[in-house]
Amino acid sequence: MALVSATEMLKKAVAGHYAVGQFNINNLEWTKAILLTAQECNSPVILGVSEGAGKYMGGYDVVMGMVNGLIKDQNITVPVAVHLDHGSYDHCYKCMEAGFPSIMFDGSKYSIEENIAKTKELVAVAHAKGISIEAEVGSIGGEEDGVIGMGECADPAECKMIADLGVDFLAAGIGNIHGKYPANWKGLQFNVLEAVQEKTGDLPLVLHGGTGIPDDMIKKAISLGVAKINVNTECQLVFADATRKYIEAGKDLEGKGFDPRKLLAPGFDAIKAKVKEKMELFGSVDKA
Ligand code: 13P
Repeated sequence: MALVSATEMLKKAVAGHYAVGQFNINNLEWTKAILLTAQECNSPVILGVSEGAGKYMGGYDVVMGMVNGLIKDQNITVPVAVHLDHGSYDHCYKCMEAGFPSIMFDGSKYSIEENIAKTKELVAVAHAKGISIEAEVGSIGGEEDGVIGMGECADPAECKMIADLGVDFLAAGIGNIHGKYPANWKGLQFNVLEAVQEKTGDLPLVLHGGTGIPDDMIKKAISLGVAKINVNTECQLVFADATRKYIEAGKDLEGKGFDPRKLLAPGFDAIKAKVKEKMELFGSVDKA
């Protein structure tokens, strides 16, 4: 099956009361670690690509070349979606041209009228190409790749308006933020999530800012219709931590320990362990 849009995997997740993880990628090690773990866990997976990460990796064609190559050469057979994360209007078009099977249009910075107009246009273009599309209502707090959101909660009536445009899944702000949560964080606003789900029915809902949300909140969110959970910072933290330990232990100075294949191995293994832990928590293991 391998490269697919995210539509079917997320419909199945809603029906089966579990969530599929979106893990953001930054380079070859990240991508390979996530794909191999998804295959080992027999889990569907979504590779998230922010505009900044796409640029860092050399461009969207590089991303698609890398992912397609890994799927083929590493014999990945579980469903894999490559998804533009928090895309601007222009980059939605760039990614569709590069062959992304899934995009997110983040129109949360626009007025609801403009968000609706742009989302409507992009839904038509994406669906004509078999590409799935996520939209956002109520900005996700925190900072990601220069995109700063204040963390407003979504208005359920606005969610219904965007859902009715035919988007395949919807990110609704419910007090979640990107990056680490501050000590005084109030937690996810489940009353908002419930109100959104009441209006949007079976539409898969997306929880951004998956890093650091307590397990019981994750499970409750899944029970209320969350079918896609985005995780980025947590993989970055475990990668940095494992790499720091390797260098602090002086291992790069032993023998050929400076070889990038050795130097980056602990971080690679740490990402694999983190992704497996999340797939187990989200309930997507053996759901490929
Ligand atoms: P975290 O970095 O907080 O895990 O959020 C990831 C995310 O929501 C990507 O869109």
